Amino acid sequence: ATHRLLLLPGDGIGPEVMEEVKRILAIIEARGILSLSIDEGLVGGCAYDAHGVAISDADVEKAQAADTVLLGAVGGPKWDSVAYEHRPEAGLLRLRKDLELFANLRPAICYPALADSSALKRELVDGLDLMIVRELTGGVYFGEPKEITDLPNGQKRAVDTQVYETYEIERIAKVAFELARVRSGRVTSADKRNVMKSGLLWNQVVTATHKQGYEDVKLDHMLADALGMQLVRAPKQFDVIVTDNLFGDILSDVASMLTGSLGMLPSASLGAEDENGRRKALYEPVHGSAPDIAGKGVANPLAMIASLAMALKYSLGKPEVADLLDRAISQTLADGIRTGDIHSEGTTKVGTTDMGKAVAER
Ligand code: NAI
Ligand code: MG
Repeated sequence: ATHRLLLLPGDGIGPEVMEEVKRILAIIEARGILSLSIDEGLVGGCAYDAHGVAISDADVEKAQAADTVLLGAVGGPKWDSVAYEHRPEAGLLRLRKDLELFANLRPAICYPALADSSALKRELVDGLDLMIVRELTGGVYFGEPKEITDLPNGQKRAVDTQVYETYEIERIAKVAFELARVRSGRVTSADKRNVMKSGLLWNQVVTATHKQGYEDVKLDHMLADALGMQLVRAPKQFDVIVTDNLFGDILSDVASMLTGSLGMLPSASLGAEDENGRRKALYEPVHGSAPDIAGKGVANPLAMIASLAMALKYSLGKPEVADLLDRAISQTLADGIRTGDIHSEGTTKVGTTDMGKAVAER
């Protein structure tokens, strides 16, 4: 079957790192590994310049129809004064909402060659490979009421509301259990059941979902604050961590600093399974459009390439090709080939294109 891929390079270094993904895709097609139909669209500031919106309806429809969406990055100072609803990030938010991408997967992988640039000591992170599964469309970022009101005494009162329903917790728990099966088979669920009703329900639903055919996966529960402490104390104890939108936002940022470089981290956002068992999915690097280095040809394309590896693994049914690509990244680093952001003494500094070529060769 032919897989429909939509590429949304975006702004700043987005198009530069996407070029290196195209280089790998060309090899995948030439070798007959996958039959691909590749389309491109605009998101972010470039879409605003072309259509006056951060993503056009036509491009949202393309994303709806695609099997997999690969996105570069959006944003930049050029669009700082654009109206709030048209700011570049609005394109990304609309995609997440319209495709109902409720599961955000953020791996934290520490390549041995980069272990010395981690925020932690080498022995704590060397070989680290954990995955944070963050609920992305619910919780306190979206719950109503959400407001700031004036009080009679002249002060103000701010309210955010954390809301979770059973189905939202169940579907994210299932994603975590299924992921654990193709990894080390362990899930740690983080909540604050001791002080939050939503945490209590989270805990109960994750436990109940585990009993619905996922008992081969080992499940632990941890309080979210204790998990934050353990992430920094002994991160290698974790395999898959599943948590809500707020805790997931914070814990995944903490985890990213364990790995050494922002330019190295991929992510996936997955939607619900359709009747054929396929999920809508969007893959993107964690980093932004890096306006400070855009247009210079020096951006690190590895997070974007690793995002393609995730797509091969979770959407395109080619986990063995994903492993090959991950090993090529690892080997490139072990061979001392580095972009400026991860360069250190004794290694060879290259630009975006040569980094992409080095991975492609390997
Ligand atoms: P950023 O991630 O773009 O850059 C932070 C720092 O890391 C910069 O010094 C940059 O040069 C460096 N960096 C990032 N990616 C790199 C790469 N692949 N290779 C080498 N160096 C890299 O974050 P920042 O500066 O906070 O935001 C810049 C713009 O990107 C803003 O407009 C922001 O809104 C947007 N942004 C977009 C995101 C997305 O598209 N998902 C995520 C984060 C920020
Ligand atoms: Mg964050």
